[in-house]
Amino acid sequence: MNLVFLDGKLLPADQAHVSVLDRGFIFGDGVYELVPVYSRVPFRLDEHLTRLERSLGETKIRNPYTRAQWRSHVYALIDAQSFEDQGVYFQLTRGAAKRDHAFPKNLEPTVFMMSNPLTNPPSAQVEKGGSAVSALDNRWLRCDIKSISLIGNVLLRQLSAEADAVETILFRDGKLTEASSSNVFIVKQGLILSPPKNELILPGITYDVVVELARGHGLPLEMRELSESEVRGADEIWVTSSSKEVLAVVELDGQAVGAGRPGAVFRRMHQLYQDFKREVMRAGRRERISA
Ligand SMILES: Cc1ncc(COP(=O)(O)O)c(C=O)c1O
Repeated sequence: MNLVFLDGKLLPADQAHVSVLDRGFIFGDGVYELVPVYSRVPFRLDEHLTRLERSLGETKIRNPYTRAQWRSHVYALIDAQSFEDQGVYFQLTRGAAKRDHAFPKNLEPTVFMMSNPLTNPPSAQVEKGGSAVSALDNRWLRCDIKSISLIGNVLLRQLSAEADAVETILFRDGKLTEASSSNVFIVKQGLILSPPKNELILPGITYDVVVELARGHGLPLEMRELSESEVRGADEIWVTSSSKEVLAVVELDGQAVGAGRPGAVFRRMHQLYQDFKREVMRAGRRERISA
């Protein structure tokens, strides 16, 4: 039986109940994380916990656990699943209270975690790339907070789902921000480019890995504002996220991106990412065995 975590306990999903007055249900008043787990070893768990702590701080939701408690709850949830590669989702809401926009002080946050089998893009898709559509980024101005209020992202993602495409790439005021559930990189004449982190994009953990790998291996990289025309004229476009890892976009709004197939810089980065993941997993496994 695969178990979920609710407020300190592991239990079967059909026995996990949350109040109808929970502010997550009423207002979408909460934050979340999704951590990829390979062979039962979470990838960049500390970085995800740092981002969670930041989201909690920005939304003034009380963090009920220390770092060590978070780690031990995540490990217990991973061990309670029957499958090896997992996507561990966790969310905190401000808690349950009489409906009122303003929140009472000292509310007990609701903490929920579940784990699902991890589905990275199939190798055929990695080799062929995917298509994307574009849309106006009409979300709020605090996209740096990993909020569970995702209706903006949901509606934007639906546009690409209906076009049988992997992502919706977003532009605000003629500038690239990110995609509906991933960050975006482009390549022009061998130079890797992506918008710098600010309040208009989620600071992706995968984005950081890609930046570190590019810097560590001497691949030219620049973080700067990118105009819509630069994106449309790019040699390569990539989307990055914990579940997609690094994926090439070979068609945008029906137009081929560069040569219309995953480019050489993408192939290099994809390989670096896979090698890095294996290295981290080996280190992670040793850490868990010796713990
Ligand atoms: C809007 C948005 N941007 C970027 C990302 C990528 O973040 P990460 O690499 O941490 O998964 C996500 C992931 O869910 C997202 O929802």
